[in-house]
Amino acid sequence: MSDESQPHAPRNPWLDIPLEDYVGHMSSPNVGQRVVLNRLLADVLRAARPASVFITGASSGNGIEHLDSAVSRRIVCVDINGTYLDALRAAFDNPAVTLETVCGDIAACRLPSQMFELVHAALVLEYVDWKVVLPRLAQLIGVGGMLSVVLQRPSAVTPAVTSSPFASLRTLEAIFNFVDPDELIAAASSLGLTVHSRRTEALPSAKAFEVLQFTQGKLTPLE
Ligand SMILES: C[S@@+](CC[C@H](N)C(=O)[O-])C[C@H]1O[C@@H](n2cnc3c(N)ncnc32)[C@H](O)[C@@H]1O
Repeated sequence: MSDESQPHAPRNPWLDIPLEDYVGHMSSPNVGQRVVLNRLLADVLRAARPASVFITGASSGNGIEHLDSAVSRRIVCVDINGTYLDALRAAFDNPAVTLETVCGDIAACRLPSQMFELVHAALVLEYVDWKVVLPRLAQLIGVGGMLSVVLQRPSAVTPAVTSSPFASLRTLEAIFNFVDPDELIAAASSLGLTVHSRRTEALPSAKAFEVLQFTQGKLTPLE
């Protein structure tokens, strides 16, 4: 694993959230996001059948167990929290797939020189300057490749970071910013990415995800 954390940047609150707190929060009944995110990655892997996958904000690898080694031969996972990636590598049990992890800020870390058939960014653009990160992700996608994005939609009744017994998660409120899907689509279009599908996924606690898939250049339509 390479470690590209930024020693002189302000400390990112994600670095101080224990994995147990993060997983406990995302799995708690009133949040209920972990299982949905797991299924959304499974869905896009099944639909896109990518030979190569790049995941940013991979955390401990939620959903990567759905990789089919007969289809996907290479996966690169980026996260700013190295302990999450330690857990990801420890749990990864697919010897036919080449796994690489990169610990660093997706806005600044060194990116692979190879292209990927699927780039997945679920609930991470809200914690970065997405206008910086989107072109970096776009440059990783070859013609016919796909960008999969999951965004959190605002709720009239639930705060951005839903209350749970895991108090450490509250520190994230300082860096969380909703991403407007229409703005993202416009920016993606200027990078050659066309909306392939867009839908809303309802969640517990009156929240919802916006699930977006973009294609780069020509792609055979998915089923
Ligand atoms: C809400 S979690 C993502 C959930 C995960 N994608 C899933 O599907 O279950 C956000 C993840 O992004 C990571 N992250 C936050 N800021 C980051 C950054 N600037 N660069 C890379 N990873 C970052 C966090 O450490 C955390 O693991």
